[in-house]
Amino acid sequence: MRKKYTNIAVLFHWSTAALLFGLFTLGWYMVDLEGAQRGYYYRLHKSFGLSAYALVLLRLFWRLRNPPPVLPSDFNSFHVTASRFVHQMTYLLLFIMPITGYLSSSFSGYKTKWFGMNLYHWGWKNEALNSLFSQAHLICGYVLLIIISLHIGAVLFHFVSKNINLLPRIWFHQKIKSNEERIDYEK
Ligand code: HEM
Ligand code: HEM
Repeated sequence: MRKKYTNIAVLFHWSTAALLFGLFTLGWYMVDLEGAQRGYYYRLHKSFGLSAYALVLLRLFWRLRNPPPVLPSDFNSFHVTASRFVHQMTYLLLFIMPITGYLSSSFSGYKTKWFGMNLYHWGWKNEALNSLFSQAHLICGYVLLIIISLHIGAVLFHFVSKNINLLPRIWFHQKIKSNEERIDYEK
């Protein structure tokens, strides 16, 4: 059984993490802006948000066909359940978050564009729906941040209190020859 994530999984993981970091920063920066600058950063946020969504869908599709590696044997049943729960919640929120943003945008009265390219516009201006989906987008964002904090907290917990470094599991590795010993995580 494989004990590390594949290089493709690693690429998906860290590109999503980098995109999310940018989207949260941009999202909270743009909502306080005024005038033309606001429009520019909103369009940028929507374009990167839709790109992140394409990446998430691709990742989910790929993940359903590629099961994760086995967990370290030191994980007790609570750690196994908690880790599965946090990963599933992350995927669920990554799936819902861009939809709420897209719906908010569709009821804002503006066309949603992807880096200048007009997307099919079916929505209309409706302040109540716009505000509802903006709220949903914001709440999903907070829940996602809590889940990501739990995720990072768990990695730190294993390192500090159990001396298990999980990071090499989700970092690039070279193919090893069958007679070589592989270090999957350092104890
Ligand atoms: C910021 C956004 C992040 C998201 C959305 C995210 C999401 C995920 C998901 C969904 C998995 C499970 C992959 C799968 O089984 O399909 C995972 C694994 C992992 N992530 Fe993250 N992650 C993020 C950031 C980080 C950071 C900053 C760290 C480093 C502290 C980290 C460390 C890990 C490790 C070590 C694993 C492998 C867990 C294992 O041993 O099974 N992640 N991440
Ligand atoms: C995973 C992807 C995304 C993340 C992490 C994200 C994050 C955020 C954050 C943190 C905010 C600020 C929330 C606030 O203070 O009200 C925001 C606002 C917004 N986002 Fe996203 N976003 C994502 C995807 C999208 C997408 C795909 C769209 C539309 C195509 C979008 C449209 C918007 C809009 C219109 C607002 C402003 C809402 C308002 O004016 O209150 N977002 N986003």
